[in-house]
Amino acid sequence: MDDKKIMFSAVQPSGIPTIGNYVGAIKNWVDFQDEFNCIFSIADLHTLTVKQEPSELRARSLELLALYIACGLDPEKCILFVQSHVHEHAELTWILNTITYPGELSRMTQFKDKSARHAENVNMGLMDYPVLMASDILLYNAHLVPVGADQKQHLEIARDLAIRFNNRYSPTFVVPEPYIPKVGAKVMSLSDPTKKMSKSDDNLNGFISMNDDTDTIIRKFKRAVTDSDNKIVYDVENKAGISNLMTIYSLFTGLSLESIENEFSDKGYGDFKLKVGEAVASGLKPITDKKNDLLKNKDYLIKVMADGREKASRIAMRTLKKVYRKVGLVLPE
Ligand code: TRP
Repeated sequence: MDDKKIMFSAVQPSGIPTIGNYVGAIKNWVDFQDEFNCIFSIADLHTLTVKQEPSELRARSLELLALYIACGLDPEKCILFVQSHVHEHAELTWILNTITYPGELSRMTQFKDKSARHAENVNMGLMDYPVLMASDILLYNAHLVPVGADQKQHLEIARDLAIRFNNRYSPTFVVPEPYIPKVGAKVMSLSDPTKKMSKSDDNLNGFISMNDDTDTIIRKFKRAVTDSDNKIVYDVENKAGISNLMTIYSLFTGLSLESIENEFSDKGYGDFKLKVGEAVASGLKPITDKKNDLLKNKDYLIKVMADGREKASRIAMRTLKKVYRKVGLVLPE
């Protein structure tokens, strides 16, 4: 390997990604491909912690891979793979479970939120979610993990477990650092701009999915919740809705917030919402088209998955063997 740092990240195939996942994660990853040795996964085992329709989950995993590539991730430059294809993730989770305390998992904000939202299905996997995530990262000795603010607590557990294991046995894991991109972008819900935009939102008007067509996108922006003073000014405290639309417009056009204020100083919300909708629709169109083309070429996607699996397995196997040896398991010949 060269001396580039290793970067690991993943998205769950738990729904069609939103423009929030795109600008907050996948779009940035594209720029990281040359700077770091990048490994990006489709975290299907994580998705099982919430009830899924099996056939839909399977289809969405393939679709997420197609989306990664359509957004510009290049399987020749980085490792793209499906988490469940590399069995070491589940195995390292077991080992790490033996040094994890139930208290530190039951305190996690996401565990508490998800347990409340899925009260009928509070399962061990939901609680163990951060340990599986730690395994994802530690198997590849990743230095850097780009994550949104909602995942920082999970990254903290990954760091704690790496340090704990290294102290109990001997230095084994790289202690990963969160990587917060310089231009931080958090896209909020269109129906409640105080909440993060989420692909699992029950209100379909709250998010723009990477599958939405032009008409749907324009309609959703028209309905976006805003205040009533009809001035396009960036002010997150008092004008969360408009500020969110300005952020989105800025991310899709490259214009600064200031120049957006100038451009729309004599315009009202109706005009602005239409412009935002058009900018997002024209930004997504080539990606959606490319993704749909790729989905017609299943053989290609299957080959990419197989290559990614092989490359990821080679690294994961090495790490897991080391771990098994350190904890005192007898290695088979
Ligand atoms: N939990 C992450 C999310 O929902 C997805 C994820 C799974 C992940 N494994 C990871 C992110 C490892 C970073 C590193 O956003």
